[in-house]
Amino acid sequence: MSGATVSDKLGLSRAGVWKHVEQLRKMGYAIEAIPSKGYRLVSVPDRLSSLELTPLLDTREFGRSIVYEPCVASTNSVAFKRAIDGAPHGEVVIADEQTAGRGRRGRSWVSPPGCNVYLSVVLRPEIDPARAPELTLLTAVAVAETLREAGVRASIKWPNDLLVDGKKVGGILTELSADVDRTAFVIVGIGINVNSSVDAFPVDVAQFATSLQMARGGEQVPRALLTAALLTKLETWFDTWTDEGFEPVRVAWKSLSATLGHEVLVRNDAREVRGLAIDIDATGALLLECGGAVERIVSGDIELPRAKM
Ligand code: BTN
Repeated sequence: MSGATVSDKLGLSRAGVWKHVEQLRKMGYAIEAIPSKGYRLVSVPDRLSSLELTPLLDTREFGRSIVYEPCVASTNSVAFKRAIDGAPHGEVVIADEQTAGRGRRGRSWVSPPGCNVYLSVVLRPEIDPARAPELTLLTAVAVAETLREAGVRASIKWPNDLLVDGKKVGGILTELSADVDRTAFVIVGIGINVNSSVDAFPVDVAQFATSLQMARGGEQVPRALLTAALLTKLETWFDTWTDEGFEPVRVAWKSLSATLGHEVLVRNDAREVRGLAIDIDATGALLLECGGAVERIVSGDIELPRAKM
């Protein structure tokens, strides 16, 4: 774009445009300036602040408020505190690094800087708290579809692990603030291993974990594009769920499932159950066929009896 066009569009002098270009270059934007031709944006930095994300967003509410932090303990914890203080529905807390990233069932989530996506969305649905697990499955569908559009064959291991090539590429941590019959807010935390390499994972995790870059044979994925696509998908699914209930989510979840149709072992705090995963019910619980009877599983971790899924 010619310098004249840029200054017209922005209402700045030519010197003013130059000053801003310099500022953007310092922030990591590569901008070519060719005398008598103008400016060309060559690349944008791989950062996830609202400066990078907002122009890419095609949403009404999700990500319209973005809180970006280079480093936090956990985006879920930050989002939870902000929600108590009145953060709006759809606010997104996003970090480049987490020092105490949290996973399900008290586990930690490995969150090195500069390569992955760690974000939490504040949701304020008007629902009975018993329906909150539906949001976890809804989020898993949105993430899986986004990953498929990014060129990998992602699937969902019940309830909400994202797998590629049988290894974990992402996870979801849902936290809730509610009275007995009223939900104040839900925090949906999403972690996706985007461009981390195998040595980013501790040895005990490495054999079960992968990243989009690893699954794409070393080709990097631009994090801002992926995040914007994810927030758009998430809002679309949230709207469908609000208008039509859980059934369309359930149908989509089943079509993306890596669990149904497999013999699995489910472990939770109370016990271990082995059986054939046949379905999820209208609440998102897993239905296992075990010796002729059907067991309804509401929480736990799944393993294939031999190889880990
Ligand atoms: C799991 O599979 O155990 C869930 C992992 C969830 C990780 C994400 S990263 C962003 C958000 N902040 C956290 O501390 N955890 C979630």
